[in-house]
Amino acid sequence: MATTTATIEVDPAVLANAADSDYASSGYDTSTASLTSSVNDYIFENGRRYHAYFGAEKNLLPTDELEQDRLDLHHETMLRMMNGRLHDAPLRGPQRILDIGTGTGIWAIDMADAYPAAEVVGTDLSPTQPGWVPPNCRFELDDAEREWTFRPKESFDYIHARNVAQGISDWDKVMSQMYGHTRPGGWVELAETSAKIHCDDNTMSADNGAKVFFETIDEALTNMGRPPPTVELLQRRLRTAGFVDIQAFAYKQPLGPWPKDPRLKQIGAMVMLGCETGFQAYGMAVFTRVLGMDPLRAKQVCDDALKAVRNKNFHLYNHLWVLFLAPPPCHA
Ligand SMILES: C[S@@+](CC[C@H](N)C(=O)[O-])C[C@H]1O[C@@H](n2cnc3c(N)ncnc32)[C@H](O)[C@@H]1O
Repeated sequence: MATTTATIEVDPAVLANAADSDYASSGYDTSTASLTSSVNDYIFENGRRYHAYFGAEKNLLPTDELEQDRLDLHHETMLRMMNGRLHDAPLRGPQRILDIGTGTGIWAIDMADAYPAAEVVGTDLSPTQPGWVPPNCRFELDDAEREWTFRPKESFDYIHARNVAQGISDWDKVMSQMYGHTRPGGWVELAETSAKIHCDDNTMSADNGAKVFFETIDEALTNMGRPPPTVELLQRRLRTAGFVDIQAFAYKQPLGPWPKDPRLKQIGAMVMLGCETGFQAYGMAVFTRVLGMDPLRAKQVCDDALKAVRNKNFHLYNHLWVLFLAPPPCHA
């Protein structure tokens, strides 16, 4: 398994004046930083809009404009983390591409532009994709855990799924459908952000707000049978589905603009910006519905996490795991 082991060096400007926890004290400025009507079944909760077409418990992330903006920002963050690449699998002239859990469809649209000869299909539980898309790109409303109806079956050159784990309980079914729908010589790529938070310089205490947030998310999702993905878990499930030659790579995602390296600093700033709505997006429904937490308490956990990420004295990061693999030449 390939992994990024190099320690991220903290910007000395961030280390200066530790008595002040605000990034402003280091001179850092983050400001740069086709369907039926039942598809419109929405739930409004804690000031956010959730989509309920496949059942209220299916997708615990909001689907409103605030969330769509966050997803588009995160796409840009991911591109920077992956050095501008839309994928790590070594694609050669793909003809049919499938994006599971496409969100706003931004990755699928970029792929359609990058591979104009390919047909790109994006599926999602919610119809939050734009109408104006490249002619070789289209979207379908679908639950990846249901029986896939794409025909011919073994026809995709490339199947991609990024940050969908929170909406998947039956990974074995999803992965075996990925296996069965990839043509010989094709590729599957998964990208999942880990809920485990790290720190290399002892600036994260046990009660750090962001650490507590991720531990609480882990507990809630594990309770509901959707444990946050670890690379080991993803690899084990992929092997069960029949995949053999699995390549895994970890990108470090700094939570805040504390790194010295300019590229990582920019990524950290973008992550911090995303956290402004991200903690509540990931936390509110899960904490209140699954753990039965009072909404005020749930909001406090999210606010404490944001406060921790905004504190320049805490040098936190997590991993974006990218796994890509080809099914064996003969599979069905
Ligand atoms: C965090 S967003 C990521 C969106 C997109 N993949 C990206 O990286 O920008 C997760 C998306 O996965 C979708 N999703 C979750 N579970 C799903 C399922 N079982 N079937 C289809 N889509 C699913 C959600 O509706 C949401 O749009």
